[in-house]
Amino acid sequence: MEKMDPRAPFAAIGGVIPPEFDTLPTPCYLIDEAALAQNAAILGGLAARTGCRVLLAQKAFSNYDCYPILAPHLAGTEASGLFEARLGAEKMPGKEVHVFCAAYRKEEMDELLRYADHIVFNSPNQLSAFGPMAKATGKSVGLRINPECSTQEGHDIYDPCAPGSRLGTTRAQWDSALEKNPSLPDLLDGLHFHTLCEQDADALEVTLDAVAEKFGDLLRRMKWLNFGGGHHITRPGYDIKRLERCIARAQQDFGVTVYLEPGEACALNAGFLLTRVLDVVQNGDTTIAILDASAACHMPDVIEMPYKPPLLGAAEPDDAPYRVRLGGPTCLSGDVIGDYGFDAPLAIGDLLVFGDMAIYTTCKNNTFNGMPLPSILTRSPNGDCRTICSFGYEDFRYRLGSSDQ
Ligand SMILES: Cc1ncc(COP(=O)(O)O)c(C=O)c1O
Repeated sequence: MEKMDPRAPFAAIGGVIPPEFDTLPTPCYLIDEAALAQNAAILGGLAARTGCRVLLAQKAFSNYDCYPILAPHLAGTEASGLFEARLGAEKMPGKEVHVFCAAYRKEEMDELLRYADHIVFNSPNQLSAFGPMAKATGKSVGLRINPECSTQEGHDIYDPCAPGSRLGTTRAQWDSALEKNPSLPDLLDGLHFHTLCEQDADALEVTLDAVAEKFGDLLRRMKWLNFGGGHHITRPGYDIKRLERCIARAQQDFGVTVYLEPGEACALNAGFLLTRVLDVVQNGDTTIAILDASAACHMPDVIEMPYKPPLLGAAEPDDAPYRVRLGGPTCLSGDVIGDYGFDAPLAIGDLLVFGDMAIYTTCKNNTFNGMPLPSILTRSPNGDCRTICSFGYEDFRYRLGSSDQ
């Protein structure tokens, strides 16, 4: 299976920094509404052609000021727990709310069931504990399965099918739960799997074979099958026809409604992180620019995944005359965004624009080292930029202690 390059080169805004970017505060995230609308239209087209239902996985992107752009094309939102479920219900009103969590707490169930339309359990234990209550309130109940089919290599933390995974129920776990409680399937309306990460439909095809082989008997009794996220549908070159065949196959073979819950694909290449150079230092052969944005705080997946984000106007380090390592201002030695090649030396005050910064950033950043959180702005299709929120010292302080001291 061909492994996809996880990030496309910088493709937005025609490859030039629009003049209005120069007036914006840094660091800031800038959400590109036109790109969001384009992604949403692709996902809406898929739903219209196939009859599948597409949800926004809010863990990747939850800047709800932009939900009105996505909502007309989507069936609703997917949540990882109570707060995201509530956000989806409040900010995409009238649309479906689906929730999956590796383990729910008893105390949150009442409130969660007010927001959720679909609730997916991770284990037979959780299904037995909370399934009857969910069903009694008229909710659609699902189980996350683990088809034990890894289609990705190199980053186990993104592979829910890695050996010993805590995510999803294996066939062996299901069979042993059935021995104790043979009526367990009666609680279920659907099955859910999430096994992919930034992958194409060939990986989904392989996964569907494993799902059919391991859970085909149960699936025939279900109303729906949720394919999870990790489908890079809006990425140029993604094999959408193959995805459509996968959807049709599940619909025909099992008589289920198919759900997809992509996060990245909804907001892929639909945001920038603007930052300025604070200092340039030389250590032996290495030229380092210290930016006012931090990998660790503002783009944590750069370190966690890890990956190197696309940077407007920059080349690979060996493909341009000036090689510069870009790093953040925190104390973490590894707060490094990557090595890039430039046509001219970087100078203090230079503006840099990272691409594909709408996903897993604003919803995942942190204030380690007391780093300020970047403002979040939107850019309308006519180029107007609007601040939707900005943060200060109070936002840092209130999470760390009592408000009256
Ligand atoms: C259960 C579930 N659904 C959906 C997603 C969204 O995945 P992606 O943003 O890669 O499409 C994730 C990501 O971790 C997930 O765990």
